[in-house]
Amino acid sequence: MKRIAVLGATGSIGSQALEIIDANPELDACALASGSNELDRLASERGIEHAQVGGDLVALLDRAEPDVVLNAVVGFAGLPATLWALERGVTLALANKESLVAAGELALTARERGGGLLLPVDSEHSALFQCLEARAPETVHSVVLTASGGPFRGRTRERLADVTRADALAHPTWRMGPKITVDSATLANKGLELIEAHFLFGLPYEQIEVVVHPTSVVHAIARFRDGAALAHLGHPDMRVPISFALTYPERALTPVEPLDFADGLTLEFEPPDLETFPLLGLARRAGESGGTHPCAFNAANEVAVAAFLAGRLPFLGIAGVVEEALAAAGGAAAPDLDALIEADAEARLLAERALGTLVT
Ligand SMILES: NC(=O)c1ccc[n+]([C@@H]2O[C@H](COP(=O)([O-])OP(=O)(O)OC[C@H]3O[C@@H](n4cnc5c(N)ncnc54)[C@H](OP(=O)(O)O)[C@@H]3O)[C@@H](O)[C@H]2O)c1
Repeated sequence: MKRIAVLGATGSIGSQALEIIDANPELDACALASGSNELDRLASERGIEHAQVGGDLVALLDRAEPDVVLNAVVGFAGLPATLWALERGVTLALANKESLVAAGELALTARERGGGLLLPVDSEHSALFQCLEARAPETVHSVVLTASGGPFRGRTRERLADVTRADALAHPTWRMGPKITVDSATLANKGLELIEAHFLFGLPYEQIEVVVHPTSVVHAIARFRDGAALAHLGHPDMRVPISFALTYPERALTPVEPLDFADGLTLEFEPPDLETFPLLGLARRAGESGGTHPCAFNAANEVAVAAFLAGRLPFLGIAGVVEEALAAAGGAAAPDLDALIEADAEARLLAERALGTLVT
């Protein structure tokens, strides 16, 4: 029996994870955490002793002693849980990409010390993990992350000037929480995933490509030096990568049907429009600059997306805020968690300042 701490249990990933756990007798939820929504019903239905709304995730994990931490918290707030699992060698099923983007080096050092498994839940990274598993690094030519393109694919900047919160939240292929849905509409999500892939698979940025693939059937592709390419395909349904991470190395039954290739399946790919969606390029530059630039990218993006969702910033202002904050951020590498938290706070302040000049 695997005892799983489900952090972010009330969210999109968290609730799908509970569905997977409930259907599998070898999985057991031993702890639940949320930000502000009540957990009483979720916990009492399952007889879960450790449930916490807000507060210190580390204290919860210390009490619950899980075998697996499913980190499905949204944003930088998930970082203590990521580091807790990696330091202790407790298997980390990671949906909370922001923690790895912000603290990549610290996280990898913690993983080295802890020696546990880091299993990506993000569908593209789960796909790459499977395509790359047991391959010698020198045989890998490059990898390709696919992006749906979001609800505004094909639009010009002019046609994005007055898009609303509701427009941005209408994602064509994935049903997700509001922050990642806006990130998908701006392509910041693919930028975060680019940095996430760099840290997860130890690949330099020039070996990580992003292509737009509107139907989200191909989740990622690994190219090898012999000219072969391996792709991972499936319906866009997060229960598949969640189940993979929670049951690894087994492959458990899920309610998701395999693809029907005789049913008119077409696979289309196109390059991303970096001019209309500048956050993908900004993320790549932040990743390549290293140090705490990825942390600053993430922090500024969190501030800008929250402002957009609150109606304080137009859609195109999100990239403006991130660009301005990144240009002013120090970016020096963080030797420890305190320095990283400081870099995150600095970038948030810079983003708030940029917001002051851009708010509607
Ligand atoms: N949704 C997807 O399909 C998908 C796919 C790939 C990756 N991801 C990643 O998975 C993470 C979660 O995404 P989501 O779509 O599930 O988001 P979501 O639906 O907004 O859920 C976020 C969860 O985090 C909880 N939370 C927020 N702040 C917290 C805190 N300080 N302490 C503890 N819990 C906190 C929320 O609790 P409340 O309900 O109380 O606010 C909620 O349970 C994100 O990093 C996202 O990028 C999501």
